Amino acid sequence: MKFFIDTANLDQIAEAQDMGVLDGVTTNPSLMAKEGITGEQNIIDHYKKICDLVDGHVSAEVISTDFEGMVKEGEALAALNDQIVVKLPMIKDGVKACKYFSDKGVKTNVTLVFSPGQALLAAKAGATYVSPFIGRLDDISTDGLNLIAEIRMIYDNYGFETEILAASVRHTMHVIECAKLGADVMTGPLSSIDGLLKHPLTDIGLAKFLADYKKGNS
Ligand code: E4P
Repeated sequence: MKFFIDTANLDQIAEAQDMGVLDGVTTNPSLMAKEGITGEQNIIDHYKKICDLVDGHVSAEVISTDFEGMVKEGEALAALNDQIVVKLPMIKDGVKACKYFSDKGVKTNVTLVFSPGQALLAAKAGATYVSPFIGRLDDISTDGLNLIAEIRMIYDNYGFETEILAASVRHTMHVIECAKLGADVMTGPLSSIDGLLKHPLTDIGLAKFLADYKKGNS
């Protein structure tokens, strides 16, 4: 399972990278705005900084909603760095743009996916990644994890190579459940990765090992 971090915060990206378990980064216009990154050139510069920090794929989202606009923006983003994955919304022109880019060998991530049918379309269009938003489904009392299971089954039935990128992951249990269901990737906040470390018996056990070592060596 690949771990992506879902943020545009450079310190958090660097911290996750430093742990040695980070496989990539996802961003979106809201995450960019949260970091105060606005204006086309600043956003481009920020993507370059993110690519310099990590080794893996970096999803960069287009803001156009028409095919021509998405192609123009996506081509400019993809030209920034080989690590860039063009992130496209799950709308008709987004599917069309996904097919256009996949035919040209440009990596894509189809975002804002909330149903198995949308995920099937993304795979048919040759998406590199599909991003089902599990947390936002949970927010409206719908089982987000069930969507991961449904997409896994559909993709396995037909051997689709599109990777299931579980998005809108909010906490550590989402990560564990997505791993059990066979999501290829998860993207979440740093806390969802850090949370995997925690177990009280680890802390108690380590404290005892260190105390016993001190006793034996004093
Ligand atoms: C996915 O790529 C999105 O950036 C993201 O996971 C959305 O998460 P949210 O629902 O926590 O905003």
